[in-house]
Amino acid sequence: MEKLRVQGGRPLEGEIAVSGAKNSALPVLAACLLTKGPVKLNRVPRVRDIRTMEKLLTYAGARVDVNGSHVVVEAGAVEKPEAPYDLVKTMRASSLVLGPLVARTGRARVSMPGGCAIGARPINLHVASLEQLGASIRQEHGYVEASAPNGLKGAYVHFDRITVTGTEDLLMAAVLADGETVIHNAAREPEVVDVAALLSKMGARIEGAGTSTIHVQGVSELHGAQHTIIPDRIEAGTFLIAGAMTHGDLVVQGCIPEHVAALTVKLRQAGADVTETENGLRVRCPGRMRAVDITTEEYPGFATDLQAQYMAAMTKADGISFITETIFENRFMHALELARMGANIRLEGRQAIVAGMPELSGAQVIASDLRASASLVLAALVAKGETLIDRVYHLDRGYERIEAKLQRVGAQVERVSSHEYATQAT
Ligand code: EPU
Repeated sequence: MEKLRVQGGRPLEGEIAVSGAKNSALPVLAACLLTKGPVKLNRVPRVRDIRTMEKLLTYAGARVDVNGSHVVVEAGAVEKPEAPYDLVKTMRASSLVLGPLVARTGRARVSMPGGCAIGARPINLHVASLEQLGASIRQEHGYVEASAPNGLKGAYVHFDRITVTGTEDLLMAAVLADGETVIHNAAREPEVVDVAALLSKMGARIEGAGTSTIHVQGVSELHGAQHTIIPDRIEAGTFLIAGAMTHGDLVVQGCIPEHVAALTVKLRQAGADVTETENGLRVRCPGRMRAVDITTEEYPGFATDLQAQYMAAMTKADGISFITETIFENRFMHALELARMGANIRLEGRQAIVAGMPELSGAQVIASDLRASASLVLAALVAKGETLIDRVYHLDRGYERIEAKLQRVGAQVERVSSHEYATQAT
């Protein structure tokens, strides 16, 4: 198994490039199942979750050609409208194929995702919304089986709570439904807008993506298209926090400032200087950061996917900060590992109270999920001495060559295999 070894104490300086958004590329790839025509995608990040989604498409019968960050999907025939357990168990976002499969073929059999380190993450809202479009859905033997032999029918759907992939799943089903669908209390995330942009290029008729009410006029067929995935706002935010924490001078190339506005407001309040450049954002933070509270919310609020990384910054800030998680019920696993590095964090239900310490110290830590891993990398960058982060496969699910990108801006970080480490350590 691989680990990351980090020597802390180096400021990050220079330019770091942002890859395509994982959480946009996932539904975009699923959307390719909706048409026979080839869909040509650019800026697809080469991360593990994307490879899993590509495997799902191939399993269903699509042809997937990958050439670096360019991917062409051709789903001429969808022979097996299924997502088997072996693929789904490694990635919860597999439920994104449910909507497209039932819309295209009239049936879908998708394994139910299991538990997850950050919370229960049920898919009841995906299921209920597809039922409103006329799909009959059964859940048995660990699978969701949907069928709509006569096609889906447009309907008015109100989501009880905001769900990102639930909105995307329904949107992808509604584009081929008969008549109008109105999605109320829809997620407003940039990733939803990106999927809608691709679907529109494929011939779908969608209005209101990016607002909480989306109108879709169903069409009988979609065609091939070409699309460039938006830059990853969570990766960009991770680098911005890293630049501020390490007291560096970092230009995060290719990020869209509006997409990370909730974070940059907080970084500025904490004492960082964040300015727009021609093609991204520059962050500097010469002095110690100040403690500033955050509460996670749906977009455009502070992203839950940046909460762990922000907490890492607050462990060294001057003062006490309150970090409140409202989206997932169990997303503080990183706090316990950060504590092993000397952080002072008290957990009270959905709130973490972080008392900033003057120093963190390197330690052996274990990554519990994707964003938790990123927070440990950030803490390691400023800790005294060496940190060894175990289970980096979590990191590889969503960050493209993170150690190579960080090395180029001055971080001392390397990937080692357990075996290699054992040999060196003796
Ligand atoms: N929820 C339900 N029922 C459902 C769906 C969601 O109760 O059917 C609840 C969830 O349990 C959660 C809340 O609604 O408490 C919001 O979950 P949402 O459905 O919005 O999350 P998601 O679509 O499963 C996406 C991202 C996550 C990100 C969340 C929130 C993708 C592939 N995943 O998940 O990204 O944290 O939205 O912004 O888009 C990550 O990249 O590390 C990651 C976890």
